[in-house]
Amino acid sequence: MQHLHQAADYLRQRLSDFTPEFGIILGTGLGALVKDLTVHHTFPYAEIPNFPVSTVESHSGNLLAAELAGRKVLVMQGRFHYYEGYTMEQVVLPVRVMKLLGIQKLFVSNAAGGLNPDYEYSDLMLLEDHINLQPTNPLVGKNLDELGPRFPDMLEPYDTTLLRQAEEAARSLGFADKVRRGVYASLPGPMLETPAEYRYLRTIGADAVGMSTVPEVIAAVHMGLPVLAISVITDLCSPGKLKRVAIADILRVAADAEPRLTALLRAVIEKQ
Ligand code: HPA
Repeated sequence: MQHLHQAADYLRQRLSDFTPEFGIILGTGLGALVKDLTVHHTFPYAEIPNFPVSTVESHSGNLLAAELAGRKVLVMQGRFHYYEGYTMEQVVLPVRVMKLLGIQKLFVSNAAGGLNPDYEYSDLMLLEDHINLQPTNPLVGKNLDELGPRFPDMLEPYDTTLLRQAEEAARSLGFADKVRRGVYASLPGPMLETPAEYRYLRTIGADAVGMSTVPEVIAAVHMGLPVLAISVITDLCSPGKLKRVAIADILRVAADAEPRLTALLRAVIEKQ
């Protein structure tokens, strides 16, 4: 808790009268939302006490205090992954700090492999549930009672009102055919999966697979923070569609989907 409060106090002092309403985490190749922001403050992660520093090349490491559609948001430009060697506590530290700073809802994006055979490149999958296949989770250890309960309920990890609003927004923006609802499986990575692993993930009920998001969502649910999470389907992993993927391909598809993701997030935030 002390680490969290130190980081929050540092930011609060510098934010002065900027009171954030929402938090946004931008995933791999999904940084273009930043173009839509009116940025008030940029905090490089390295300058914030106790913040981990991002090591993935496709992620920049800044916390932005900004306005989006007239609403005050904190935006994580770059996130932390377990495969980088961080502890789960480090991975979720920024989400906890954003909550201490007052955010009321959390919006998360990621790049993911599509397991559902109906999915196409650059589809947006709204997470309605997840399967945690990371080796651990951020709630292991002594419970931080100030943040939430020891045994948080996970019946509804993704806020149903936000899900509905996202679907409505996709309809009015004219790309409802590119938006799905599904189950996200989170694996540690950093390697992609074998064909047998993709078949296994499909068999156990996943529609998409990636290496992030679930730790942050668990931390958010623990704190009672409603979450909307969106996967951009950057590669297709169902039998018959599977082929070799390079990170450059993933980034190219993410860039193609980005205008829709950005428009959707903006529209949902406008409705809050
Ligand atoms: N597996 C895991 N993570 C991913 C994938 C995938 O196929 N695609 C994008 N992120």
